[in-house]
Amino acid sequence: MSINFSEETNGEIITTTASLPEDNGEGSLRPRSINEYIGQEKAKNNLSIFINAAKMRGEPLDHVLLHGPPGLGKTTLAAVIANEMGVNMRITSGPAIEKPGDLVAMLTNLNEGDILFVDEIHRLNRAYEEILYPAMEDYAIDIILGKGPSANSIHLDLPHFTLIGATTRSGQLTAPLRDRFGVSLRLELYSPEELTRIVVRSAGILNVEIEPEGAFEIASRSRGTPRIANRLLRRVRDYAQVRADGVITRAVADMALSSLEVDKMGLDALDRRMLRSIIQYYNGGPVGLETLAATINEEAVTLEDVYEPYLLQHGFLTRTPRGRCVTRKAYEHLGIEYMGQQQMEF
Ligand code: ADE
Repeated sequence: MSINFSEETNGEIITTTASLPEDNGEGSLRPRSINEYIGQEKAKNNLSIFINAAKMRGEPLDHVLLHGPPGLGKTTLAAVIANEMGVNMRITSGPAIEKPGDLVAMLTNLNEGDILFVDEIHRLNRAYEEILYPAMEDYAIDIILGKGPSANSIHLDLPHFTLIGATTRSGQLTAPLRDRFGVSLRLELYSPEELTRIVVRSAGILNVEIEPEGAFEIASRSRGTPRIANRLLRRVRDYAQVRADGVITRAVADMALSSLEVDKMGLDALDRRMLRSIIQYYNGGPVGLETLAATINEEAVTLEDVYEPYLLQHGFLTRTPRGRCVTRKAYEHLGIEYMGQQQMEF
């Protein structure tokens, strides 16, 4: 049996769910209304009801928490909500709020009904969360001036606003913050069919000719993530332009994606390296996340947030109390003989 353990990534990983500079043009591909937004049917159905009810009452929407893996359109959905409510949205993120004054300034600059979108809200400094509690509950903040016996507090009323928080890790939010969101929606990975519709829609906007089978090929190799599907579409378009007659057929998509090292199941070089390392160094597992991360020189949070959701959903990896294990399906996909994990344990 020969195993090639030496596959190395060549730096850039095209299937990362993290936002890359080349995604900047993503804006034009983003849907603006609920009707244009493809997939996430459960979240959309619930949201439509809440939006309509709030509009009928003439009140702002309740605070919304969006959670789920990166790249599924949390920011896009927040912008759709703002558009449907007919209000403005201000955008910030947990790590961008460096001091309490940053948060106070954001809140006091809002207009009645506005949406404040806080991306990566789990990374907001815990000490500043307390500013949000009365802001979310009573639309007011208390600012303490000075220290000790001479300290003074100023009560500031805020406009009625909606906080939309987005997070890849809702488990890391403190309970008091989580409890203050009236609506909590989990976004799920997209099915290949939904992604096919997204690719066809994006190709239309980009003026690229694409066959349904070409769109499906891109969709089924995009890890359930629209951000990746749109990125792969642009790369395949380049390929079609230079190597074919500009039309994205299934064969063109297949050739382009193979040359980008995205395999038939949508796994990229890092996915395969992670699975191979568990097999090579840990007999298929179990191995703790931190140990695995150190072995392949990646951060544990990156493995957990970016790589694992797709590998878990597609049954290449399992999580056990003792750590991560690869499955028989992973051995088969990598072309490595499966000996049975128990047999090989020391
Ligand atoms: N582009 C990115 N995400 C999308 C979605 N959910 N629907 C339509 N187009 C998209």
